[in-house]
Amino acid sequence: MGFITNLLKEQRHILLTRKLLPWFIYALLPLAFFRLYFHPIHLPENSIHQSPQIVVSSSSSSLSTPPFSSSPVLEEEVNAITETSCDYTDGKWVPDKLGPLYNGSTCGTIKAAQNCIAHGRTDLDYLYWRWKPHKCSLSRFDPNKFFHLMTNKHIAFIGDSMARNQVESLLCILSSVSKPHLVYRDGEDNKFRRWNFPSYNLTLSVYWSPFLVDGIEKSNTGPNHNKLFLHRVNEKWAVDLDDFHLVVFSIGHWYLHPAVYYEGDELVMGCHYCPGLNHTEIGFYDALRKALRTTFQTVIDRRNPANSDELNIFLATFSPSHFDGEWDKAGACPKTKPYEENEKKLEGMDAEIRGIEMEEVEEAKSRAKQNGGLRIEALDVTKISMLRPDGHPGPYMNPFPFANGVGDRIQNDCVHWCLPGPVDTWNEILLEIMNKWERQSSRNRGL
Ligand SMILES: *[C@@H]1O[C@H](CO)[C@@H](O)[C@H](O)[C@H]1NC(C)=O
Ligand SMILES: *[C@@H]1O[C@H](CO)[C@@H](O)[C@H](O)[C@H]1NC(C)=O
Ligand SMILES: *[C@@H]1O[C@H](CO)[C@@H](O)[C@H](O)[C@H]1NC(C)=O
Repeated sequence: MGFITNLLKEQRHILLTRKLLPWFIYALLPLAFFRLYFHPIHLPENSIHQSPQIVVSSSSSSLSTPPFSSSPVLEEEVNAITETSCDYTDGKWVPDKLGPLYNGSTCGTIKAAQNCIAHGRTDLDYLYWRWKPHKCSLSRFDPNKFFHLMTNKHIAFIGDSMARNQVESLLCILSSVSKPHLVYRDGEDNKFRRWNFPSYNLTLSVYWSPFLVDGIEKSNTGPNHNKLFLHRVNEKWAVDLDDFHLVVFSIGHWYLHPAVYYEGDELVMGCHYCPGLNHTEIGFYDALRKALRTTFQTVIDRRNPANSDELNIFLATFSPSHFDGEWDKAGACPKTKPYEENEKKLEGMDAEIRGIEMEEVEEAKSRAKQNGGLRIEALDVTKISMLRPDGHPGPYMNPFPFANGVGDRIQNDCVHWCLPGPVDTWNEILLEIMNKWERQSSRNRGL
């Protein structure tokens, strides 16, 4: 297949360049991987387990509230007291007998390539872990609580396939309590979708925007690099900004791609891996920083301070990949257990990208203070996810990859996450932060 040859060519190019460009040491495998799985043109979406999306019935299912025992309340109070000092990223994965929050085979919204159990993954230990911060507890996701907080609200996940990974996790979790309706769908490979939970008038959207800023994705027919316009956001999502109450931005991996960066419509700032073009190589870190700054600034500038609705903006930090071996050989991400707390440090490109993201969030936070009701926060999942090498689809991106034995070429996805899986924890943290805010504003209202 042509793209495999292209891929190998690109890998050779990269091997030649990596001496000159240190970031390629980290980027090599993911880059190779994107050619196949991040770029929609190459996307071998297989339709096998794509069950018809979303339930069409209008009746909402059981809205049972679990019996209210006294311990969660106590726990909450303890949290409330200590929450200012609690860093939820400081913790470890601990065994959890309860297991996943939903049944992946009945959820109906999981992209086939991430539906690992349906694709024949048999080692299921990865489902039985929960994140335990040292100084506070992270509650198991309570869909009823989420609906309570988000009634009449619109949540948007905006970014690349990680945004999609997370929105599908959230949909599956929420579906266990109330059925969503797919109300809008556009773009190849489900790039833009919107659901509504009629029982709560909660709207959930996902927007494909892998750079957040405006850009032209590379394609087979056009140039072999992305074009990014770092000075303006992608209006696909930005035009709807006034409708949102909660936004989760989730980007990163597409920035590793070859790209040319524009600071004005014509003005080229530089490029990342563009041999043959007469542009200065500047890596992608500065471009990412600039893109985030443009994004947050646009949100701050455009939001009408007179708007009485809250707007909470999260940036999900970089989600590390785990390639231990070659991406197209068996055993690319073979681990079946999380790393121990001190077994692996956050370093290299993962730490670098997260650092930029955290800095830009801090920057934006202070600027957003002028705009009442606007809140900007990091959803800091990098370290938590880095400790989960066991949570990727690996070979199970394809159905039953070993049905005919272990072949020479086994494609692996060590970037995205199986569902159910570690991304469910990202949503638990999201809910925990929103709960904390709710408690704070109740206290401020003197309740
Ligand atoms: C998930 O649902 C399927 C179909 O109803 C069922 O066969 C399977 O046992 C369920 N799995 C779990 C873990 O509950
Ligand atoms: C449903 O939620 C939207 C916001 O997402 C709001 O504008 C609308 O008024 C709500 N509808 C009702 C009936 O409350
Ligand atoms: C490359 O760019 C430099 C600086 O802009 C210019 O002087 C030079 O002529 C360009 N070379 C080519 C081959 O276009």
